[in-house]
Amino acid sequence: MECRIVTIPGDGIGPEIVREACKVLDKVAQTYGHSFHYQEVLMGGCSIDAYGVPLTEEALEAARRSDAVLLGAVGGNVGNSRWYDVAPDLRPEAGLLAIRKGLNLFANIRPAYLYKELAEACPLKKEIIGEGFDMVIMRELTGGLYFGERHTEEVDGILQATDTLTYNENEIRRIAVKAFDIAMKRRKRVISVDKANVLDSSRLWRKVVEEVAKDYPEVKLEHMLVDNCAMQLVMDPGQFDVVLTENMFGDILSDEASMITGSIGMLSSASLNESKFGMYEPSHGSAPDIAGKGLANPIATILSAAMMLRYSFDLDKEADAVESAVQKVLTEGYRTPDIMSEGCEKVDTARMGDLIAERI
Ligand code: IPM
Ligand code: MG
Repeated sequence: MECRIVTIPGDGIGPEIVREACKVLDKVAQTYGHSFHYQEVLMGGCSIDAYGVPLTEEALEAARRSDAVLLGAVGGNVGNSRWYDVAPDLRPEAGLLAIRKGLNLFANIRPAYLYKELAEACPLKKEIIGEGFDMVIMRELTGGLYFGERHTEEVDGILQATDTLTYNENEIRRIAVKAFDIAMKRRKRVISVDKANVLDSSRLWRKVVEEVAKDYPEVKLEHMLVDNCAMQLVMDPGQFDVVLTENMFGDILSDEASMITGSIGMLSSASLNESKFGMYEPSHGSAPDIAGKGLANPIATILSAAMMLRYSFDLDKEADAVESAVQKVLTEGYRTPDIMSEGCEKVDTARMGDLIAERI
C-alpha cells in the first residue's frame, strides 16, 4: 500500500518523538511491503518563527491532500514572549485549533489503558486499580467553547470577557454515532458525560445522544455529570468503556485519564473527520523543559501511528504489530524516565524507538 503522510513535528519534544514514530512506521513498511511517503510541514512556534503565523495556508493544504497527518506537539513556555506576546490567534496553539477545524476533525479518540507493567506508575491504590482499566474517550473536537464567539470588552469601566458554548444537534449526532460505532467493537457501553443539570447545550447533548442510542440496541447508554465523572475516574476507572463528551470536558477528562495510566507519555490520540482521514498525535504537549535531552517518551506518538495504520489505512495487522511491540518492550523492562520503576532499564527516546522498531 502507498500512503502519503504529512508529518508535523512542531515544537519542544515534537521533532524527537515524531522521528521515533517514523522509525517504527518505516519498519512496518519494510516488513509488510508498504510505502509511506512523508512530507514535513511546520506548525506552531516553529511556523511563527519561519512565517509569522502558526499555520500557513500551504501547510493546511498539504495536510488536506495527504492520506493522514502525524503530529508531534506545538507550543512553548507561555513565558516565551516570542510566541505568546501576540494576539491569541497568532499563538502556537491557534495553529492546532485551525488545523482541527480546517480538516473538520470533529472526533477525537483518546484511549486510556493501564498496562499491567505500569501499575506501579499509576497513582491510584491497588484496590482501586483492581483488574485495571481500558477506556476510550471520545471527545468532540471542533465545537463548544473552543470555537464559539469570544471577546473581551470594557463595560462601564470594568473589563469583561465572554466565551460561548454552542452545539447544534448535527454536531452532537455525528460524534455520538462515532462513539456508538466504537462501542460496538468494544464492550458495548457508552457513558455520555455532560452538565445537564446546568447547561442548555448539555440538555440538547443528552437528548440527541438518546436518539442515536435507539439505533444501537446492543449498546448500554448511561449519562454522567462531568463533575461526577472526574470523581469516578479516580474512584472506579474500571467502569468506563467509551466516554462520550464535548470538547472542553473531554480536554480535562482526558488529561485526568492519562495520568492514571501512569504517564501522559503513554496516551495516543486520533482525530477523525467523516471519512477515513485523520490526524494522529500524542495527547501530551510539547514539554519544552525536557526538549532535546532524549528524555521524552515516544510511546504515545508510536501508538498514535498505530492508530493511523488502523483507522486511516485499514492496516489492522500492522497496527497490532506495533501495539504488541510496545507491549513487548514494556514486558522486557525498558522504560523512559517518566515510567521508570525499580529493576527496569532506563532508556532514552531514540533507544525506545529502536527497541520497538526491532520488535516488528
Ligand atoms: C489537547 C491540548 C489542546 C486542547 C491545547 C494545546 C489547545 O490540551 O489536545 O488536549 O486544549 O485541545
Ligand atoms: Mg488537553
